[in-house]
Amino acid sequence: MLDFAIDLGRRAGALLRDGLDRQRTIDLKGAFDLVTDMDRASEDLIVSTIAAEFPDHAILAEESGAIGEADHTWLIDPLDGTNNYAHGFPYFCVSLSLWRGRTPLLGVICNPMLDELFSARAGGGAYCNGRLIRVSDTATLGAALISTGFPYNYATTPENNLSEFDRIQARCQGVRRSGAAALDLAYVAMGRLDAHWELGLKPWDTGAAALLVLEAGGQLSDWHGGPWHPWADRLIASNSRIHDELIQVLS
Ligand code: IPD
Ligand code: CA
Ligand code: CA
Repeated sequence: MLDFAIDLGRRAGALLRDGLDRQRTIDLKGAFDLVTDMDRASEDLIVSTIAAEFPDHAILAEESGAIGEADHTWLIDPLDGTNNYAHGFPYFCVSLSLWRGRTPLLGVICNPMLDELFSARAGGGAYCNGRLIRVSDTATLGAALISTGFPYNYATTPENNLSEFDRIQARCQGVRRSGAAALDLAYVAMGRLDAHWELGLKPWDTGAAALLVLEAGGQLSDWHGGPWHPWADRLIASNSRIHDELIQVLS
């Protein structure tokens, strides 16, 4: 099944890469929440391929919603980083994962622009292009490079992550806001970033990346250090060494 997901992630990634410079049709889901024809094309490819191969599995995909009910559910973000993509800013990915209830079984993230394919299987380690990856060994927040994101309803909610951004930015070497949470989280798994925090993420944003971070030796929790699951509203993902410091600042 992991080989199937890797192949599908690569195919969807290639579709997005090849479409990046073409004219796009863009619709608005909210004031700043976009969807392009390429989100839909990628999702159509992924959903139809999974439905044909695993007709007994359920699917939760960002643009189509829930399809079927089963023990096994695929969480699908056909294009994470849509606003980047719509502007031709080359930081985006495809994210696929398979869960049994609240247990992750496998996850795949494809960044076609760097030809990087991240994959993980529960208990089997995390990989980038077949090479084993580990989280960083950065020991303090003061030595860390961190990423985050802001919700699409930033302008209309007081829970917009701005005061948290200010507090963390003041205590680390830098905060990056790159616009594709799943890819940021994959970078935590491979040590390019030391941690990521965010609120308002959805199961399709985090489903694959969470398993990558865990299998790479990292840690996940909510902002108070409580357990995290894909339906939780607030996430801290870290290399585990700076996790407690992040909880102190965010909780
Ligand atoms: C978004 C990106 C962004 C994050 C948003 C997500 P989308 O996903 O991951 O970085 O801050 O919360 O919704 O809409 O590009 O798939
Ligand atoms: Ca997303
Ligand atoms: Ca998306």
